[in-house]
Amino acid sequence: MSDSIKLSFAKFPAAPAGIVVLLAAEGVTLGAAAESFLVPAGDLLTRAAAAERFEGKSGSALDLLAPAGLAVQRLIVAGVGKAAELKAFDWLKLGGSVMGRLPSAAKDVAVVLALPGIEVSADAAAEFALGMRLRAYSFDRYKTKKKPDEQAAKPKVTLFVADEAAAKRAWKKREGVGEGVVLARDLVNEPANVLTPPEFADRTEALKKVGVDVEVLGEKELRKLGMRALLGVGQGSEQESRVVVMRWNGSKSDDAPVAFIGKGVVFDTGGISIKQAAGMEDMKGDMAGAACVVGLMHALASRKAKVNAVGLIGIVENMPDGNAQRPGDIVTSMSGQTIEIINTDAEGRLVLGDVLWYAKERFKPRFMVDLATLTGAIMVALGTEHAGLFSNDDLLSTRLAEAGLATGEKVWRMPLSPEYDKLVDSKFADMKNTGGRFGGSITAAQFLQRFVGEVPWAHLDIAGVGMSSPSTDFNRSWGSGWGVRLLDHMVAEHYED
Ligand code: BES
Ligand code: MN
Ligand code: ZN
Repeated sequence: MSDSIKLSFAKFPAAPAGIVVLLAAEGVTLGAAAESFLVPAGDLLTRAAAAERFEGKSGSALDLLAPAGLAVQRLIVAGVGKAAELKAFDWLKLGGSVMGRLPSAAKDVAVVLALPGIEVSADAAAEFALGMRLRAYSFDRYKTKKKPDEQAAKPKVTLFVADEAAAKRAWKKREGVGEGVVLARDLVNEPANVLTPPEFADRTEALKKVGVDVEVLGEKELRKLGMRALLGVGQGSEQESRVVVMRWNGSKSDDAPVAFIGKGVVFDTGGISIKQAAGMEDMKGDMAGAACVVGLMHALASRKAKVNAVGLIGIVENMPDGNAQRPGDIVTSMSGQTIEIINTDAEGRLVLGDVLWYAKERFKPRFMVDLATLTGAIMVALGTEHAGLFSNDDLLSTRLAEAGLATGEKVWRMPLSPEYDKLVDSKFADMKNTGGRFGGSITAAQFLQRFVGEVPWAHLDIAGVGMSSPSTDFNRSWGSGWGVRLLDHMVAEHYED
């Protein structure tokens, strides 16, 4: 992982130096380990809290420099609110907000994970660590002139916990998920002149190191398979298209795999139906769905998830050269169904239609979940808080919604129905690639449903959450890595041995 902090765990009692972070619950009450650390400082905390009107509320903090009586540079007391009510997602946010409060020149940081009335579990500590890691991420590889504080050495962060061995074990599992999120963010942030389709495919080969089987299909193989809908999108680009199949077999059984499919348009100009100039640079992130699938496969494999999983991504560049696809063209998809191209900018569904069909035919999966920055319309409907969820399966939908609430990567179910389906019927072919002015995210999903047969399937439209979404305590990156934690959680809850 592009590592910006060095994390480790140690056991109470804490005798740290440098910068020390303590947690305080509502009423400025502390856990025993924090209390005993503060003994030499007398009533410092009481007086400082009164002066700052610090009450230990969630999100608030006290920041004291060279505190009298303590041999430390700086003491930060972070409020957590009601200690007994903290959930995993709260610990993630807390880790992120503590990371955000550290000065950029921080070298040696100790966090005492103790609270009054509760035992801070190993899982909570690991979630806190994950929050710190994700907040510390920054994509700065193209900044040649770093400011002095950006060049500062990676801070060494020690988390003091009750059970060091248990916390280390919990972090070992969580760290892989963090790496998966960071990997997804890196891919989304990377510009399209660097992350061409062949380069994207090459980068997935790194997953072999964690035990994922990686198979790259080039244009010759895709033509042989009949993926003309996908190939039609890429034909206006100098860059060749690719499909990557990633397999992780972590289950003892040879059960059918769960399948994740991602839209990987490395750049979406719109093609001949070209987009306007303003904001077009954001279309380097039109592969956020594919990035999530790669990050998820990394996460599952590195925490050795007891599940059989496949990840398939369709990687193309949508460009308008002399060989580009035209409005009015008719292409035959791998499924045999024909598609009239109305708008070359509705390209994601063309890519996914072929990859969904291929995933279904080859792997007979238990379910398929696809992720795609598919429509601007989903942002009009749901903004940047929820991804749109479309599904033919209530159980899968419920599980995704629950995982969304647990991880903070929230989804909101949208409708599918025969009436909407009719809107993608075509005058000249089996279907067309746009559905008219209204319900644009729904007609896009209806198009996809024509390629999934009877397989339980869910489509996540992540145009509003995959990139350029508002910053949070644990994310300051343009590419958010959205979906890795969500899907990892759902797999862990329901689909492992
Ligand atoms: N990649 C875009 C959707 C998108 C827009 C993602 C903004 C993230 C931010 C997609 O390929 C697209 O262009 N969709 C069109 C569909 C339309 C032509 C039917 C759209 O949403 O306008
Ligand atoms: Mn488009
Ligand atoms: Zn697109």
